[in-house]
Amino acid sequence: MNETIQQIQNHRSIRKFKNEEITQKQIDEIIQSAQSASTSSYYQAYSIIGITDPELKKALRDVSGQQYVENNGHLFVFCADLNRIYNSQPKEIQEEMVVNLENTEFFMMSTVDASLAAQNAALASEAMGLGICYLGSLRNNINKVNELLDLPKYVIPIFGMAIGVPDESPEKKPRLPIDTIYHENKYQLNQPGIEKFDQTTVEYYQSRSTNQKVERWSEQVGKKLRKPMRMDVTDFVKSKNLNVR
Ligand SMILES: Cc1cc2nc3c(=O)[nH]c(=O)nc-3n(C[C@H](O)[C@H](O)[C@H](O)COP(=O)(O)O)c2cc1C
Repeated sequence: MNETIQQIQNHRSIRKFKNEEITQKQIDEIIQSAQSASTSSYYQAYSIIGITDPELKKALRDVSGQQYVENNGHLFVFCADLNRIYNSQPKEIQEEMVVNLENTEFFMMSTVDASLAAQNAALASEAMGLGICYLGSLRNNINKVNELLDLPKYVIPIFGMAIGVPDESPEKKPRLPIDTIYHENKYQLNQPGIEKFDQTTVEYYQSRSTNQKVERWSEQVGKKLRKPMRMDVTDFVKSKNLNVR
């Protein structure tokens, strides 16, 4: 198999890192790789914040409740960012562009841009032999993260990413069968592959080396989604003047 494809398909999240900081050269290469991602209309509507202050890292760990937010080789926070574009314009254009910046389309565009950059960062990190874990858990208290990072209007934190030298080698997590994810020509509501996948996940969780359990995929996602989660995110996004039109 092609080496790049092999690396992509070998991904697994790493949640335990060696006590080693990654080098500035690695950080630069990761950021440049992130920046090489495609970006809607060349807007580059995202920012990446590297967390080097240990106290700040601790505070972000407290928000997430996950120790690997603090214990890693480097921590990034990926933000959707329409502020840079707004600020690059004279006042009269700013006033006109607000109709776009504040609508759902641009909220989506900036979160997509940030996510594509992040996935390139993840792949570049993994290509260097590093491990990564995305950290949506920073949205456990999105207002606190906003305050800690001094984010202006039109900038919202999407997720963090812990990067470092892996200190664990977890089994690869199975994915849904292709025929549930990939549809030809029209969306297929009938997805019999899910039942098969439920069995696959039961076998995966029973046989993996750590945190064994018996759980079907559909049961797992159902359990999670029954409880309201991060209900403050809607108001937070609106408070940053995004997705309000
Ligand atoms: C946007 C996003 C946010 C995530 N947030 C967290 C997180 O807060 N904590 C965590 O341990 N894993 C997090 N993950 C990792 C997922 O749990 C993981 O990718 C998924 O279970 C599949 O496992 P794998 O990455 O090992 O294949 C996140 C993944 C994504 C894409």
